Amino acid sequence: MGVTRGKLIAFEGVDGCGKSTQLRLLADWLRARGADVLTTREPTDGEHGRRIREMARSGERVAPETELAWFVEDRREHVANEIEPALAAGRFVLTDRYYLSSVAYQGARGLDWREILARSEAEFPPPDLAIVVEVPPERALERVRKRVEESGGVAEPVFEEIELQRGVARVFAALDCPYVVRVPGEGPPEAVHERIAELVESRLAL
Ligand code: TYD
Repeated sequence: MGVTRGKLIAFEGVDGCGKSTQLRLLADWLRARGADVLTTREPTDGEHGRRIREMARSGERVAPETELAWFVEDRREHVANEIEPALAAGRFVLTDRYYLSSVAYQGARGLDWREILARSEAEFPPPDLAIVVEVPPERALERVRKRVEESGGVAEPVFEEIELQRGVARVFAALDCPYVVRVPGEGPPEAVHERIAELVESRLAL
């Protein structure tokens, strides 16, 4: 008898929307209920993912087509080496960004987002649920700036410009996929988490 296939949940949204915190809270919530959970992210920590982060930090601008090609290569590896095996083993997979980030970001950089979406859905397993954490781009960018200042961390100027973030938010808002749900991301993280947990419970029939 085969193992029941696991569930894939993607967290999406503009930079600074709080999706990484929400991913952690949902992982804890699922584990408390006995689930076996893999948490992961894109860009990955693999070769392509590292190259993408270096590019972002250096402020170097590459053509959107090149950017898209790198993210897709990174995703191919991610799906083959981590996501698929975990789903096949019946695990929950929670990923911090997935192909809707390519749709929204490379779409906002001028590529045809509907085409990126169609190609992604043809190549990669669609998520059972994609949770778009919605925060106005201006607010989200403020959070990113604060975080960077406080930690003395490295800003990623290429991806964090306000105009780009507005374009990204517009694409996320326009998506019409049955697996996309939008959650208001403002307010205390615990309150946002409760909304997400409720959604997951009802949409995945837990
Ligand atoms: P981010 O989630 O901010 O990673 P981290 O905070 O761990 O460094 O992702 C880095 C940036 O990459 C972010 O601004 C969104 C962008 N991105 C794309 O443009 N396309 C994609 O397909 C993905 C996965 C990310």
